[in-house]
Amino acid sequence: MLKRLEELFGVDLGTCNTIIYQQKKGIVLSEPSVVAIQTDTGEIKAFGKEAYDMIGRTPANVEVIYPLKDGVIANFDMTLAMLKYFIGKIKRGYQWFRSFQVLISVPCGITNVQKRAVEEMILHKGARRSITIEEPLAAAMGAGLPVAEPIGSMVLDIGGGTSQVAIISLGGIVVSESVRRGGMSIDQDIIEYVKKTYNMAIGERTAEEIKKNVAAVVMPVKEVKMDIRGRDLMQGLPRTISISSQEIYEIMDDFVKSILECIRLAMEKCPPELAGDVMEQGILLCGGGALLEGLDKRLQQDIGVPVHLAEHPMECIAQGTGKMLNFNGAIIIDRSEKIVTEDRESVL
Ligand SMILES: Nc1ncnc2c1ncn2[C@@H]1O[C@H](COP(=O)(O)OP(=O)(O)OP(=O)(O)O)[C@@H](O)[C@H]1O
Ligand SMILES: [Mg+2]
Repeated sequence: MLKRLEELFGVDLGTCNTIIYQQKKGIVLSEPSVVAIQTDTGEIKAFGKEAYDMIGRTPANVEVIYPLKDGVIANFDMTLAMLKYFIGKIKRGYQWFRSFQVLISVPCGITNVQKRAVEEMILHKGARRSITIEEPLAAAMGAGLPVAEPIGSMVLDIGGGTSQVAIISLGGIVVSESVRRGGMSIDQDIIEYVKKTYNMAIGERTAEEIKKNVAAVVMPVKEVKMDIRGRDLMQGLPRTISISSQEIYEIMDDFVKSILECIRLAMEKCPPELAGDVMEQGILLCGGGALLEGLDKRLQQDIGVPVHLAEHPMECIAQGTGKMLNFNGAIIIDRSEKIVTEDRESVL
């Protein structure tokens, strides 16, 4: 039998991070989804990690942009250029003529027209085939939930730009809900808080550091402090202050409430049998926002359902696409919209 000379990639194209899985190799790329552009000429200066390092440190004529916003593609041209760069980076050293297929995850709830646009974008890059898969389904597969069984599994993915809840059974999404809040909205809440309380401006990256180091959504057992630098808004001069876990804890309620509301809305739409399964099996928590200190405990306390933090929360979706790719051969979508192999074997 001829050995298939085709490369298969699974892509998690997120608002904050793009993760690419290559069949038989695992995760081969994980970079921030950002592009640095020279505003006067429109020339692209950098992508990914290199562009991320420029955030908050650019001269007036360079801007760092996120081509995705709230989980969806906001700037198609920039997203295409970024993906082209990432795929090119992985394929460096490979023969360019080798054909490849891409399985790319998209938020649930996007329209068929939007899905088609994402697929076209990949085909434009030279892929032989491009298929979209809904993110929560990929995340559930990545975490090893029994997605194909007649059992309700609930996934809560807290990303950078959006948070999604989905209940999955028999290989499909039964109900889903999303809210345009995620890690980045917490950063904005922190920036606002520091501005109001200390009259000090801080950058997005400092806010993200505060979130990762001192933010918690359960009352901190031990107070942690962090020194942060910014610009005094009265005097215009650099200034350092010390911020504590306690004050950040107090501003996190709003975020937690929107996540709880999202879960509630999904539960409300869920058929009772499946709701029973979720009560028993619990909720799988994934996405970078899942790493927020104490989030699993807090949600469990507030909704009374077990909440399990995924082993590698940020990689679940990419791992899920990988599981599908490793399913013995090429992937296609059949007429009933199921993802199957070329031998019509169901992937789920
Ligand atoms: N240890 C941590 N504590 C809190 N937040 C974290 C931590 N590590 C990463 N994050 C946050 O997770 C977010 C990125 O998560 P992820 O990569 O899942 O998002 P994404 O998939 O790019 O976005 P989306 O799914 O919304 O399109 C960022 O806002 C980042 O600050
Ligand atoms: Mg994501």
